[in-house]
Amino acid sequence: MCGIVGYTGGRATIEVLLEGLSRLEYRGYDSAGVSVIDGGSIALRKKGGKLAVLRSSLEVAPLPASATGIGHTRWATHGGPTDENAHPHLGDEGRLSLIHNGIIENFAALRAELEADGEVFASETDTEAAAKMLGRAYRDTGDLTTAMQRTVGRLEGQFTLLAMHAEQPGVVVGASHNSPLLVGYGEGEHFLGSDVSAFVKFTPSAAALDNDQIVTITPESATVTDFDGNPSEPKRFEVDWDSSAADKGGWSSFMAKEVSEGPIAVENTMRGRLTDRGVDLDLGVLDADVLRGIHRIVIVACGTAAYSAMVGKYAIETWARVPVEVDLAHEFRYRDPMLDEHTLVISISQSGETMDTKMAVQHAASRGARTLSICNTQGATIPRESEAVLYTHAGPEVAVASTKAFLAQVIGQLLFGLHLAKLRGTMTDDAIAEVVAEMRELPDELREVLAEQTSVHELAHWMSDTRSVLFLGRHVGYPVALEGALKLKEISYIHAEGFAGGELKHGPIALIEPGQVVFVVVPSPRNEPLLHSKIVSNIQEIRARGARIIAVAEAGDAAVLPYADVVLRVPLTLPMLEPVLQVVPLHIFALELATAKGLDVDQPRNLAKSVTVE
Ligand code: F6R
Repeated sequence: MCGIVGYTGGRATIEVLLEGLSRLEYRGYDSAGVSVIDGGSIALRKKGGKLAVLRSSLEVAPLPASATGIGHTRWATHGGPTDENAHPHLGDEGRLSLIHNGIIENFAALRAELEADGEVFASETDTEAAAKMLGRAYRDTGDLTTAMQRTVGRLEGQFTLLAMHAEQPGVVVGASHNSPLLVGYGEGEHFLGSDVSAFVKFTPSAAALDNDQIVTITPESATVTDFDGNPSEPKRFEVDWDSSAADKGGWSSFMAKEVSEGPIAVENTMRGRLTDRGVDLDLGVLDADVLRGIHRIVIVACGTAAYSAMVGKYAIETWARVPVEVDLAHEFRYRDPMLDEHTLVISISQSGETMDTKMAVQHAASRGARTLSICNTQGATIPRESEAVLYTHAGPEVAVASTKAFLAQVIGQLLFGLHLAKLRGTMTDDAIAEVVAEMRELPDELREVLAEQTSVHELAHWMSDTRSVLFLGRHVGYPVALEGALKLKEISYIHAEGFAGGELKHGPIALIEPGQVVFVVVPSPRNEPLLHSKIVSNIQEIRARGARIIAVAEAGDAAVLPYADVVLRVPLTLPMLEPVLQVVPLHIFALELATAKGLDVDQPRNLAKSVTVE
């Protein structure tokens, strides 16, 4: 779960590496390091702590200018976040430098073998064994690419490695095995990175390595082979992210900026996919015939993406009349799910690199299921391993806590649900047109929600000492409640739980005591009178026991007023679209409360944005 970047070319290498690392810090931020080739030797600096610690150290004592370098930001797996365990690690008596993302599962055996042969280790990491092995292979072969080919065969687990050797200035060699690596193509320069954000500021031209490939970059060339040395030509693409989109742009945090980008994320995800009265989706091999033959859908995802999937389930099942299940990706694979060619497995992932989700997709494909990825990151592994992809266009999401990507994920599934409903003839054209018209309103409605959130700010400041918050919802409001609770615990470290309203009396109501704050996600009384009355009953039950109620309710809902201490208003929309609006006050609440507590909202403790280990 680390971020890696490599560069060779005419720019100030350290600046390129630090820029790349700042984009990748979401992947891990407990230590960071860089190294460059300096006239026949390796210069290296690495530090425990966030990237800022490394940056200050380099300001005080700069590394030499160089045309070749690698950089790493770490999320510790083997060994604590110390200077020693930070990457790069050295091999070949300090002449080789190596960084790693992933886990080398047989490192203990390799380390024992190397120690028995006289190698001395300076860290507790699994990575250092790879550095020492690569160093030895280099001594035997005198060529870093050949040495890499020899070394990767001995490593078990999943890894991306980048390495350089002092005797080969201008060369960085990368290898990827079940872990992402992308090449960035420039004029007289090349880049390597864990994802495109590592180099998108410098070039939009990129290619993703396939599994089990090695790449050698020099300023003039980028050569890709498989692990046996057979050449391969990766498929290039242009990154359509505006590089400035990954800047904070005056906002206090990336999370604040990304919450504010909800309307544009939704707009961009719908762009070109809505017609006057319907949707226009091209899902490649998952064409009309294939989709008409689908008898069942399983959506796999983790965390926030899984909550978006729960919204998707309600919409797709209701509209297209196909049974839809949602599985946490890490549970899916281990329960021997029933799959066949009539099952469509939809994976949802912002990063496209979540290991659990990737393994679920691989499992589904190996059992003959059809696979569709809904993903926000071009060239990421999960879409590449799926038969078709529906990209969300939320733009880069840097803050660890996902916000705008959730909105885009819901939109992606709504689009798919309508597409399927049309193919299966389960909705009339008028019904589809009605949803499409309402979807078009969402960006402006989101702008309204964002503009009217001063009460959320006040609420969060007023509640900054709160120790426990509960969230309640029904139907599509249930995943919204779960998402509200996740966001709060994730960035403000407050105990928070989300419940389905109907479940309350089956246990959770025992938690209610005087003063307990409960957010209630209220469906529209106009569109869902029955559900509305049920949730109002729930509110009365907990209020009678002393709960303080914060309702997220439709603008015209007067019925909720007598029962709520605070009402956060959202515009009226169709039931399936409500989560897109209702979730925003909850995101803002978590953001404001964590800010009021003085916490780092972008990089909460113990987390990384892209969870690339199981
Ligand atoms: C929560 C959050 C995580 C991610 C989850 C899946 O705010 O960000 O729960 O949603 O780790 O990540 P992706 O979507 O990249 O697969």
